[in-house]
Amino acid sequence: MKPLVIINFKLYPEAVGRKAVALAVRLSKQRFSHVQLAFAPPLSTLSEIRTKTTLPLFAQHADPVPLGAYTGHLSPEELRRLGIQGTLLNHSERKFSPAQVKKTILLCKKNKLITIVCAASLNEAKKLAMFSPDYIAYEPPALIGGNVSVTKAKPGIITKVVALIQKTSPKTKLLCGAGIHSSEDLQKALQLGMHGVLIGHAVPKAKDPLLKVKQLIS
Ligand code: G3P
Repeated sequence: MKPLVIINFKLYPEAVGRKAVALAVRLSKQRFSHVQLAFAPPLSTLSEIRTKTTLPLFAQHADPVPLGAYTGHLSPEELRRLGIQGTLLNHSERKFSPAQVKKTILLCKKNKLITIVCAASLNEAKKLAMFSPDYIAYEPPALIGGNVSVTKAKPGIITKVVALIQKTSPKTKLLCGAGIHSSEDLQKALQLGMHGVLIGHAVPKAKDPLLKVKQLIS
């Protein structure tokens, strides 16, 4: 399986609304044979971006609710109907309780959505792996948004997360994120046993996001 490289647009001003659509369309023009590029755009743009690219799309969050009287929530069933492939859960900028993570994973599985559960530490990864998400994404919050990548700062923890998840939830694949901004960071993540990475500010905030993605994935 090709390594997964997910660009998390967050709500950066450079990647919301029309700009998010334009960014997704521009990045989709570049095909990479050796990695699977995917996007986690703002929730409000998912539906339009879905019509403009064939690349996998992930919501940045989903709630443990079915369709119905749930004002202000985002149901996994709605995401499925939009043709979205999956969702991040428990991102350090959108934390969930373990119980909410468990409930949402179950609802996502029912709707055949891929679940990428973020874990801020080895301990949290251990706890959340018990819910058998499709992916655990190790992202130490202190490194998010910075220019020191998790692969440079925490190679030992990454190695421990790989060993732990292989033991406790062998079917769960692994991603890491935080500060990833170069092809060395991506290569190092793969060497350490990751199945891919999550990238935030390095792409949407780049002078030339497409050139940045090409450099990252080269
Ligand atoms: O979801 C990935 C994101 O949190 C990483 O952010 O800006 O450190 O690449 P960044």
